[in-house]
Amino acid sequence: MTLPGDPTPRQTLERIIRVDHAGEYGAQRIYQGQIDVLGRGPRGDVLRHMQAQEQHHLDTFAGLIAERRVRPTALLPLWHLAGYALGAVTAAMGERAAMACTVAVEEAIDEHYSAQAASLGPDEAALRDTIEKFRGEELEHRAIGIEHEAELAPGYRLIHKVIKSGCKVAIAISERV
Ligand SMILES: [Fe+2]
Ligand SMILES: [Fe+2]
Repeated sequence: MTLPGDPTPRQTLERIIRVDHAGEYGAQRIYQGQIDVLGRGPRGDVLRHMQAQEQHHLDTFAGLIAERRVRPTALLPLWHLAGYALGAVTAAMGERAAMACTVAVEEAIDEHYSAQAASLGPDEAALRDTIEKFRGEELEHRAIGIEHEAELAPGYRLIHKVIKSGCKVAIAISERV
């Protein structure tokens, strides 16, 4: 049932594409910040692998922005800086803290993509499949983070909590602005 004030199906679609484009943009920037700090170390290859997947996610949503004529979020310049800063700062805290950042971010994205996929009907099956495919890759990134001892980072619980809630705020803002 649609109530007055509820978003129309078109508005819902626009929000989905806008926020996912913003999120993948930010994710790509997080890894850039981490690679600039840790890229020549033992975690360089795994960080570049995850960044390459984020770049593919980003390119896909950039294509949808154009194809479906959706306005991108006005906050891309902010996510450009904030994503990079988050990546560079966590990387400067150490390899484990960088991985803790990945675990927290990818958990937020997993929950976000799950909710989106559930909200899309059969008329948007292709978009739903794309989201589900990317969600699978985000969960792989989370697993990579755990494998590389994210949970052993000093202050893991706090880092995880702050970053995950920060992602949720960024998601809520990027859907609307
Ligand atoms: Fe992604
Ligand atoms: Fe990811």
